[in-house]
Amino acid sequence: MSNGGFIYDTDGNVLHAHGGCMIKHGDFWYWYGEDRRGDRYVSCYRSNDLRRWEFRRHVLTMGSECRPLHPGDTASLSENGRRINIERPKVLFCGKTGKFVMWAHYENGRDYREAAACIATCDKPDGDFIYHGHFRPFGHMSRDCTLFRDTDGASYFISASRDNADLHVYRLTDDLMNVESLVRVLFAGEYREAPAVFRRGQRYYMLTSACTGWEPNQGCFSESTGVGEEWSRLRNFGDKTTFHSQSAFVLPVGDDLYYFGDRWGGYPMSHPFDYSKSGYVILKLRFNDAGDPFIVWNDEFELPTV
Ligand code: GAL
Repeated sequence: MSNGGFIYDTDGNVLHAHGGCMIKHGDFWYWYGEDRRGDRYVSCYRSNDLRRWEFRRHVLTMGSECRPLHPGDTASLSENGRRINIERPKVLFCGKTGKFVMWAHYENGRDYREAAACIATCDKPDGDFIYHGHFRPFGHMSRDCTLFRDTDGASYFISASRDNADLHVYRLTDDLMNVESLVRVLFAGEYREAPAVFRRGQRYYMLTSACTGWEPNQGCFSESTGVGEEWSRLRNFGDKTTFHSQSAFVLPVGDDLYYFGDRWGGYPMSHPFDYSKSGYVILKLRFNDAGDPFIVWNDEFELPTV
């Protein structure tokens, strides 16, 4: 396995879970992410050792069941038979409803002007998700996004707003099906994308990228004493291309944390750009004495032995 490149599933196929997330449920880690082949939107793989990934299902496709949340609303996974865009899918399990709830970024497939969030749910981590449609949280634009659940059970949706100029932090309702309040507007005017939030002890961290499309750029981190509290100014994370990657998520395993980034279009980046050449950068997060996170390049994926 070579860092930055493909990962293969247990059938020997390239694993497509880009811009994704990982949750632990029962004995397994579930890896969800974008799959842009054919009629697929989101695929799911699982593993009990973070090394062997078993393909489970294309959990969201053009053919998935659509069920609007409110009578009179619409929910569709295509536009006139064409693909739409479902980007950066993130999933949390909701203990209250017993559902796995997915939030993602919705665009109509023609342009990038919808800037909306969308939701899908499932009774199982790796079943067919039911799509519930898209909306703008409190009317705000919503693009690159992530979910974060704190240890007190509070869950947050964080997404780029105002044409990416600002990053919004929303607290979610208990059923994870809606935004409850807009708790913070971060990095106003700084154009941050690809948010990934994690916690270490009493400190919270957020990784973000700058806004350069598929081209990698200098990642940054910010820290806070709570998701809804004030966040520090941005400071550099990784090198000036974040080792040719853009943050997807950070996975806690025991006391350690692992950075997962997307290497869009491969390296060197394919020209013309070929999404299916995208790989993954996986590196253990290290912390200096001041508690600042950093990563060091390693030619191999850096994963724990579990
Ligand atoms: C990136 C963003 C990706 C995708 C891409 C499209 O900046 O993080 O999720 O939207 O742009 O150009």
